[in-house]
Amino acid sequence: MSTVALVPAAGRGERLGAGMPKALVPVARVPMLSRAVRGLLASGQIDRVVVAAPPDHLRAMTELVGSSRVQVLRGGADRTDSVRLALEAAGDAERVLVHDAARAFTPASVITAVVDRLRAGARAVIPVLPVTDTVKRVEQDGRVSATVDRSDLRAVQTPQGFAAEVLRAAYEHDGGALTDDAGLVERMGVTVHTVAGHPHALKITTPFDLAIAESVLATRKAPDA
Ligand code: CTP
Ligand code: MG
Repeated sequence: MSTVALVPAAGRGERLGAGMPKALVPVARVPMLSRAVRGLLASGQIDRVVVAAPPDHLRAMTELVGSSRVQVLRGGADRTDSVRLALEAAGDAERVLVHDAARAFTPASVITAVVDRLRAGARAVIPVLPVTDTVKRVEQDGRVSATVDRSDLRAVQTPQGFAAEVLRAAYEHDGGALTDDAGLVERMGVTVHTVAGHPHALKITTPFDLAIAESVLATRKAPDA
């Protein structure tokens, strides 16, 4: 009855531009990958973690987070490939979470909410936040064509949780690359449920995001909580 977390961490972090893979970039001296893995294990919900690393940083990431409960393997050319490779190493897990290393500050409460919903019988669960900006549809030439009703829109975070056989089937049946694993599951017709996300689960993409994360950490009590 195990729960395995897959952590895609094989990206190059080009938009962050730190000159190293994003997962290795330290925030308040602790690399994001360490924070993400530590957060998963500290939630008490995860039995094992599988990390997909950039092939040329496999050793560095193994030294950083490898343990009896954390396996680090070679990731793929895009995120979908990395998740697929990690999923193959998930063994006979009953539940699988997919959690971006770049969402290194996700609170335990979000991880727990996802796993609880899976335990209660959901086959796919994602954390979401309301969209706060006004959203418009814009033509190629820059003209606004419509203002979208945002009341039923949500921004999606990770960890995304799945009954393991559902995610396996999605990856077997669907070759299409998506930024979102739940999207593959949706395309199979499986109902995807939502739980409340958290602002701290933001994905670190740009130097601005990193600055936000640094300042959030500075206001927490423990220096590397
Ligand atoms: N990822 C991955 N394998 C890839 C590409 C991305 O495992 N081949 C992971 C990243 O490491 C990250 C997550 O998928 O944890 C989300 O991707 P993104 O935020 O785009 O990270 P990067 O691809 O590293 O960043 P960029 O696109 O700016 O290069
Ligand atoms: Mg990317």
